[in-house]
Amino acid sequence: MSWAQAPGRLVIAVDGPAASGKGTLARRLAAHYGLPYLDTGLLYRMVARAVLDAGHDIADAEAAASLVSSFDEGAFLEDSLRGREIGEAASVVAAMPAVRAGLIARQRRFAGQPGGAVLDGRDIGTVICPEAGAKLFVTATPEVRAARRHKELAGRGEAASFDGILADIRRRDARDSGRSDAPLKAAEDAVILDTSALTVEEAAAAAIAIVEARRRAVPAPEGVN
Ligand code: CDP
Repeated sequence: MSWAQAPGRLVIAVDGPAASGKGTLARRLAAHYGLPYLDTGLLYRMVARAVLDAGHDIADAEAAASLVSSFDEGAFLEDSLRGREIGEAASVVAAMPAVRAGLIARQRRFAGQPGGAVLDGRDIGTVICPEAGAKLFVTATPEVRAARRHKELAGRGEAASFDGILADIRRRDARDSGRSDAPLKAAEDAVILDTSALTVEEAAAAAIAIVEARRRAVPAPEGVN
């Protein structure tokens, strides 16, 4: 039995493209199962922030590689990481192999906590936790994702046109899916959840049902719920 499937542990991998709703669902799953949650996109956003704050060009792979091992997760205000431009910058550093390699240990450490964890990102089910007990690949049409991001940014007071956001989403999809290192794709054993026509409540119920089905398919050893 692997570490990820050890008795009493539940690791849930939630992957998917930008604004697919994976963060909301991952948080709901974490609350439902009482597990710690890691938004791995924030790590890439922190590296991008650190590169820009140090005055480097976002495409400077050497600068990003040197910062990835030393940045302090506690040093950033979440608000400075959530904006539209930093999401774009994060997808640039995320295509750099040294950045991805430099973030693997932090993510695996988090997933290795005694009870397990929920992680969301692009490569959790394929690279970071290939042995996760349950894997979801959350998706929605580009138009629905753009509408969600538009609403989210408006809520932050960041005005942007719907068409501009849709163009961002398509560009980010192409960059995330087209990179050679850990491209965005569903793991073979992931269950695809298309949230285009679902409310948050419906999507959360569907996500829990997927995890429960996995847990029934791979029963826990005796004495473990
Ligand atoms: O919320 P949104 O989906 O827009 O962005 P995010 O999840 O915070 O991720 C920002 C960028 O980081 C993505 O476009 C990916 O390029 C990158 N990322 C990644 O490559 N691998 C992950 N596990 C998480 C994020």
